[in-house]
Amino acid sequence: MTNKNDSVPVLVAVAWPYASGSRHLGHLAGAYLPADVFARFQRLTGNEVLMVSGSDVHGTPITVRADSEGTTPSEIVGRYHKEFLDNWEKLAISWDLYTSTGTDNHSEVTHDVFMKLFEKGHIDKRSSEQFYDEDAGRFLPDRYIEGVCPHCESPEARGDQCENCGRTLDPEELIKPISKISGSEPTLKETEHFYLRLSDFQEPLSKWLSGREGWRNHVLNFSKGWIEEGLHDRAITRDLDWGIEVPVEGIGEGKKIYVWFEAVIGYLSAAKEWSKNNGLEDDWKKWWTNPDSRSVYFIGKDNIPFHTIIWPAMLIGYGDLNLPSNVPANQYVTFKGGKASASRGVGLTITESLEVFEADSLRYALAASFPEQSDTELTVEEICRRINEELVATWGNLVNRVLSMIYNSCDAQIPSPELRNGDDLALLEGIDQIVELVAEEIDKVELRAALQKGMSGAAEVNAYLNAMEPWKLSKTDPERAATVLGTALSAVAGVRVCLAPYLPFSTELLNDVFGPVDSWQRKEPPHGKKIEKPKPLFKKVDKSLLGLDD
Ligand code: MF3
Ligand code: ZN
Repeated sequence: MTNKNDSVPVLVAVAWPYASGSRHLGHLAGAYLPADVFARFQRLTGNEVLMVSGSDVHGTPITVRADSEGTTPSEIVGRYHKEFLDNWEKLAISWDLYTSTGTDNHSEVTHDVFMKLFEKGHIDKRSSEQFYDEDAGRFLPDRYIEGVCPHCESPEARGDQCENCGRTLDPEELIKPISKISGSEPTLKETEHFYLRLSDFQEPLSKWLSGREGWRNHVLNFSKGWIEEGLHDRAITRDLDWGIEVPVEGIGEGKKIYVWFEAVIGYLSAAKEWSKNNGLEDDWKKWWTNPDSRSVYFIGKDNIPFHTIIWPAMLIGYGDLNLPSNVPANQYVTFKGGKASASRGVGLTITESLEVFEADSLRYALAASFPEQSDTELTVEEICRRINEELVATWGNLVNRVLSMIYNSCDAQIPSPELRNGDDLALLEGIDQIVELVAEEIDKVELRAALQKGMSGAAEVNAYLNAMEPWKLSKTDPERAATVLGTALSAVAGVRVCLAPYLPFSTELLNDVFGPVDSWQRKEPPHGKKIEKPKPLFKKVDKSLLGLDD
């Protein structure tokens, strides 16, 4: 794929992390890093990318945490939002806007969506029985209730979802419910809430989903299964005092909009916020109402139904807004068999990982293990192996080797392409093919395969050097040695393009030699240019510092 003249608007919509605790490597590999790789690639092909997300600051994950620490939700949210911003900066996650659901803009857009759905009759008010904690004197939001999952019998299911089997739940479905506040068994008591009439959308959603092409099987199967079970209307208000106000009078005190109803609206509100910030009020429409634009949602698999059913239903109900083009949800990264989970303290946090690994090295190791098709086991040992035996051994050493030989035996001058023979041209042709193939894979969001392809380019250059032996030629035929090294450097330029979306820091370190990567194609290095004495691109990980045996 060379650069297209017709640039397409691409919305890269990334799951909004709960600001309820440090995010771990599972989240990074599940959503933020794949989104960044995809967005960087799309920009390089000339597409107009809007990559948005923000901290999800409402809901019971936040209030549960605040209660357990004896502090306020806003203190918790402030703390973790700051940590996330620091994580993104250290990892160079290339947001166009990273905001939060705590802004006035987000409340306004949420109210607009709520009112439109309400006026169209897709939201109505109902009375129902909800769990009430007699000891605490309050209604219990879903996450404040735990019990046995009715589907898989996991004993740790929460009132909103079972993390073990991934099903969303209503708290009344739990077997042996227990209040997390008092530990007592809650009773059912009458209360009023607003409901989203999901059942109104059974037909259009099922039709829409059956027309999806190029979606991951596990995403489609899960979503279709959900619809076939029959869509149930869902309460979209909660008995909480932390959250977005309900924009309709007369529902009683102490209710707020349910976090999952409003957080998904963040994709739209963030696009509007971005437009406003840039003084381009209507620019958000490029990604939201233009039928030629693409919207790709990067999420973990526990978020699938919210993005393939509930959010699309809201969008259909609202009208005239684009539905997701693709939702390439990732499976889980597992640490020693269990799902990595910030709330259960399993797996390294992003912050901890960045104290140990260089950002590009971590990005590489995670991308090589993206859980695209199945749950993927990750260990610190495996991360080290990926860095030392793949990234450093194959790519870092190749770059260093070629630049050092040019520095030492070509008078530090990039050689001319003039005298290239058939072998040389064959290498470059092979690399150019790889550049195209990597583009196809990334565009399909096969990011792990794309990275492997890109690395195979590095292996081809290594094989070429081993066959040509320029270190011998430099003594017998210095002119030929220079041509071989210039060819290898040109091939390295092509591999660098393939790796650029994955490795932004080390890509930039080579700007002095090649100039910046600013399009999706191999460019001939500027021959005749003098280069500096090369420095290694990456550090090998010293496993002994990690307390691991070598
Ligand atoms: N906060 C949720 C989580 O961390 C994800 C929300 S995604 C959004 O699981 F679409 F709702 F914003
Ligand atoms: Zn379950």
